[in-house]
Amino acid sequence: MSTQSSSLAGKVAIVTGAAGGIGGASAAEIGRHGAKVLLVDNRDDAVRQKADELAAEGLDVAAFTADVSDVAQVDAYVADAIARWGRIDLFHNNAAMEGPFLPIQDYDVDVFDRLVAVNVRGVFLGLRAVLPKLLAQDSGAIVNTSSIAAWVGFGNLAAYTATKHAVAGFTRAVAAEIATTNVRVNAVSPGVIETEFVKRIERVVAAPGDPTEGHGLFMPSVPKQRYGQPEEIAKVVRFLLSDDASYVLGANWLADGGMQATG
Ligand SMILES: NC(=O)c1ccc[n+]([C@@H]2O[C@H](COP(=O)([O-])OP(=O)(O)OC[C@H]3O[C@@H](n4cnc5c(N)ncnc54)[C@H](O)[C@@H]3O)[C@@H](O)[C@H]2O)c1
Repeated sequence: MSTQSSSLAGKVAIVTGAAGGIGGASAAEIGRHGAKVLLVDNRDDAVRQKADELAAEGLDVAAFTADVSDVAQVDAYVADAIARWGRIDLFHNNAAMEGPFLPIQDYDVDVFDRLVAVNVRGVFLGLRAVLPKLLAQDSGAIVNTSSIAAWVGFGNLAAYTATKHAVAGFTRAVAAEIATTNVRVNAVSPGVIETEFVKRIERVVAAPGDPTEGHGLFMPSVPKQRYGQPEEIAKVVRFLLSDDASYVLGANWLADGGMQATG
């Protein structure tokens, strides 16, 4: 096994949205620090491919295809991790979608319901299924992926913004519920991170025929004058999941190149 450090050695982790930019990077980061990782995503081919890539690196990983908004499929990914490795210690509750870029009066109700199902219900179902396992063993840590959109309002992304405020709310409330145990829950709030997620929004907003497809559109709001890389979020997630973060509870940890501090 290629490990840079043994800080998560022997732990079992689940990462949702693991076929995507941030989830893929966090699965790699956690795996490289010694944990076994179940990569969960609803894109079957993509999650298998990501798991194959990490396995080829020598990491102990597996793929599981599931829609995080479906109760039975959430219970199934939890059961799979336990059947495979006997326990769960770490959970990156990360899968989400951005939805359309539209003013609220043009936002379709069915599309809204789907966004809430994935971004809010999905996070809720993950917490509801994983937390009892951690509490039963009185150890473990969870990181929910929130967003800079839990700190400021983004026009034309109102529904998405509301779902990420909800993730921050879950994190704080669950922290209150488990504070006296040895289980911790926190959130990470990425700013603008270079993944397909942001590229999709940029393409939608780009002027017709713009050869850059709008890439860099959000740069004026980023004090650091560069987008973040998924690996920079993954390192924060790994820290929050590790015992080094033993007194960090209910935090919503910003990694946004200064957006919130200066906005
Ligand atoms: N990229 C950014 O700038 C940014 C900023 C703030 C927060 N975030 C958050 O980071 C997280 C990861 O985003 P990303 O940038 O890696 O995007 P991404 O699109 O690269 O990855 C998201 C992954 O989630 C998966 N997914 C979507 N719906 C799912 C479902 N119903 N069931 C299972 N998997 C599902 C997708 O297939 C995809 O692989 C999300 O929670 C997102 O809201 C991203």
